[in-house]
Amino acid sequence: MEKGKFPTFLVATVPKWKANPNPISLMMAGGATRHRRQAEMIRALKGSPYRDHKRIRPLREVDPGGVLTFNPFMVENLTVNLGERSYPIHFGADVSAVVQAQVEALVAAGRKIVVVTDRNLARHQPEVLRTMFGGQATLVLEPGEETKSLRELGRTLDFLAENRVDRSGALFAVGGGVIGDLAGFAAAAYLRGIAFYQVPTTLLSMVDSSVGGKTGINLKAGKNLVGAFHQPRGVFVGTWLLATLPPREFAAGMAEVIKTGLLGDADLFAQLEHAALTVNSPALSAVVRRCCALKARVVEADEHETAQEGGRALLNLGHTFGHAIEQVTGYGAYLHGEAVAIGLAAAARLSRKLGHIDDRAVARVEAVVVSHQLPLKLRAPLPLAPLMAAMARDKKTRAGALRFVVLKSLGEAATQGGIDPSLVEASFREVGAM
Ligand SMILES: NC(=O)c1ccc[n+]([C@@H]2O[C@H](COP(=O)([O-])OP(=O)(O)OC[C@H]3O[C@@H](n4cnc5c(N)ncnc54)[C@H](O)[C@@H]3O)[C@@H](O)[C@H]2O)c1
Ligand SMILES: [Zn+2]
Repeated sequence: MEKGKFPTFLVATVPKWKANPNPISLMMAGGATRHRRQAEMIRALKGSPYRDHKRIRPLREVDPGGVLTFNPFMVENLTVNLGERSYPIHFGADVSAVVQAQVEALVAAGRKIVVVTDRNLARHQPEVLRTMFGGQATLVLEPGEETKSLRELGRTLDFLAENRVDRSGALFAVGGGVIGDLAGFAAAAYLRGIAFYQVPTTLLSMVDSSVGGKTGINLKAGKNLVGAFHQPRGVFVGTWLLATLPPREFAAGMAEVIKTGLLGDADLFAQLEHAALTVNSPALSAVVRRCCALKARVVEADEHETAQEGGRALLNLGHTFGHAIEQVTGYGAYLHGEAVAIGLAAAARLSRKLGHIDDRAVARVEAVVVSHQLPLKLRAPLPLAPLMAAMARDKKTRAGALRFVVLKSLGEAATQGGIDPSLVEASFREVGAM
């Protein structure tokens, strides 16, 4: 076989691989006997750039129900074009070899590398972390939104200083949006800015937070009140990491995927409508890539969210309602994506009341939300007054007038100001406010 070129493999039985998530268990397709095919495959890998990859193991049993057809080492790239701040996003099932190569290149150039991650990753993905970073200095933070705090920012900055990271150093953030936002902000602030790389590990961070350069932390007064625009130098999206993500977190990430389809990719929405996406879907990596492509396009056109209409604000479809739910319930009862899912239902209803879409379109939005294990309505009713007050405080309102992202069709969103508050109230009531 030509060096560097891979055949299509039949990849791991998902249940078996889940029980032992890290070994890459492969088997070739075709009519020859299993043993011969395995031997061929291993020979092929040994002649490839992955010959030293410690995680290549032959597969003993194939569960026909869980077989996927694709090459786990294949990596595709997408560029976020922002002039001198442009950067690549690498996509694949397993991108650890690509991260490893990036780390080695930086180290060879004499640059100090540090890693920030959280305890869940350290526990569930130790082998991947080892493959990517070997023995590089690693700060392991507590998981959870509370970590996006001034205190943990201080810890992260102290960690950088203790490791004598200089201006040529680079920080790798390995985790969900919490780690990406916090570590990205630390990288933005430390020595007035050092290089940082994102290795997102939740669906939400793969499709949303790791791309676009927004970093920051929370204050007692509210979420994301302190931050900076600091674009990463590269993003590495390996969807196999999602195997250990709790299902509720996967579903929450799906809210942002559905949002992406609704605001700008009608074909993606139709695909989700046709078949619900799961962690085992062969299409997962392609869907994640599609979401990043759309976000990259939006960010390229409006990097610092200064557009008067449309622009980055469109990414907030469903979020004005969602943020109000999160704020009123105190950021605990609903995951961000769950609040956004209810917000998408409310935004669809508002768009219906404004005459942009019809009842059938609202029903289609709701069906896709439900088929991805997400809520359409508040679990327990919340009073309308604090929800409306929270929306009025939302950063996205301008000069007191309520401003929303509305659906023009399923696949096209627009910002709209001067909306009659009674329509907003009615929409909120329909998703469970009282
Ligand atoms: N910067 C942006 O543009 C942007 C956009 C959207 C959201 N955000 C921020 O992102 C944050 C939410 O991010 P999130 O949803 O990724 O939450 P998160 O980072 O809290 O991760 C969710 C949970 O999953 C665990 N986890 C992560 N990866 C795992 C894996 N592979 N296996 C097992 N467990 C894993 C984490 O430890 C955590 O407990 C919020 O703070 C939000 O404000 C930022
Ligand atoms: Zn969001």
